[in-house]
Amino acid sequence: MEPEWFTYDIVAEDPATHARAGVLHTPHGDVPTPIFMPVGTKGTVKGVLVPQLKELGAKIVLANTYHLAMRPGADLVAEMGGLHGFTRWDGPILTDSGGFQVFSHEEFCKLSADGVRFRAVDYDGRWFTWTPEENMDIAQKLGADIVMQLDQCVGYPAPRSKVERAVDLSAMWAERCWKAHTRTDQALFGIVQGGMDLTLRRRSLQHLLDVGDFPGFGIGGYSVGEDHETMFESLAPLASQYMPREKPRYLMGVGNPTTLVRGVSYGIDMFDCVLPTRTARMGTAFSSEGKLNLRHARFAHDAGLLDPACTCPVCQGGYTRAYLHHLVRQKEMVGSILLSMHNLYFLLDLMRRARESIIAGTYGEFVSRWMDSPAAKDW
Ligand code: GUN
Ligand code: ZN
Repeated sequence: MEPEWFTYDIVAEDPATHARAGVLHTPHGDVPTPIFMPVGTKGTVKGVLVPQLKELGAKIVLANTYHLAMRPGADLVAEMGGLHGFTRWDGPILTDSGGFQVFSHEEFCKLSADGVRFRAVDYDGRWFTWTPEENMDIAQKLGADIVMQLDQCVGYPAPRSKVERAVDLSAMWAERCWKAHTRTDQALFGIVQGGMDLTLRRRSLQHLLDVGDFPGFGIGGYSVGEDHETMFESLAPLASQYMPREKPRYLMGVGNPTTLVRGVSYGIDMFDCVLPTRTARMGTAFSSEGKLNLRHARFAHDAGLLDPACTCPVCQGGYTRAYLHHLVRQKEMVGSILLSMHNLYFLLDLMRRARESIIAGTYGEFVSRWMDSPAAKDW
């Protein structure tokens, strides 16, 4: 079904790279692109309240269909007014299908002609079967602004035959999701699979273009164990030469700042990853000096700010490295919260500055400056 409420406008295209700045219009507001989307798997970005997310500049957040379907269940969320009513985040929301989560426990996952049979290992261990139609039914009950098709993500390395089967299965599921999806206030994105092989990637994209007029495309199956150069070998031509210019492109599950900066130069518009919040809970911070591990003893007496170059509420709030070191060492919740806020801001602000530079027509220089900076050295 064609969405009535969803459009994507390109605002500027950088002359020297394939980067573009745009705006996604959704029923719950506009999203400037390129954008990083904080992950709130179970209906909350871990450790960060809604007013703080707004203060950090988050414009759209993720949630996960698989996790929410397990607990508290899609019917309950629908009864509470959908994800917007339930979570009190009133801005745009994107839900991932859960294909990725299901296939991350490959030993508990069986493909059938009709769908996927899997064991909910993160929950009560029961076996479930999901058809693409059931997956869309859940996504429509949750009521996000953007929903992803059910797909099969393959790890790396993988035999070509396995990647090919995943491309074909994902294409078949794309068609069934497309037919089952009827909400006109919700955009359904197809997902391009195909591993590290550009031929298979193009085949996957062509399947999606044949299925229907998807309002946007996810690029899945990357950041699954390959190194950066292996990823960009197929990702760069796919995004910059083959994907339709007028549709948003979403690189799924990637949150490494250097990959964001490079990805934007190839025409990627959207990113999501648990990296900023997950690493924050382990005491790790992005910074203009590179990766900082606040657990390290060298910070115990450091009266400096977390990152003097950062304009986030934590760095502006005057919190010292010594204090953050103490909180992290003592496993105080506030340590995780402060580092999560800083890390999210770091990626949100990086994409905000990237967008400004695309609009100014200087994104090529932005990339070179980033790659040469100490901030990039650990990523
Ligand atoms: N998140 C990261 N990679 C993927 C993928 O390949 N598919 C889905 N559905 N989600 C992802
Ligand atoms: Zn900061």
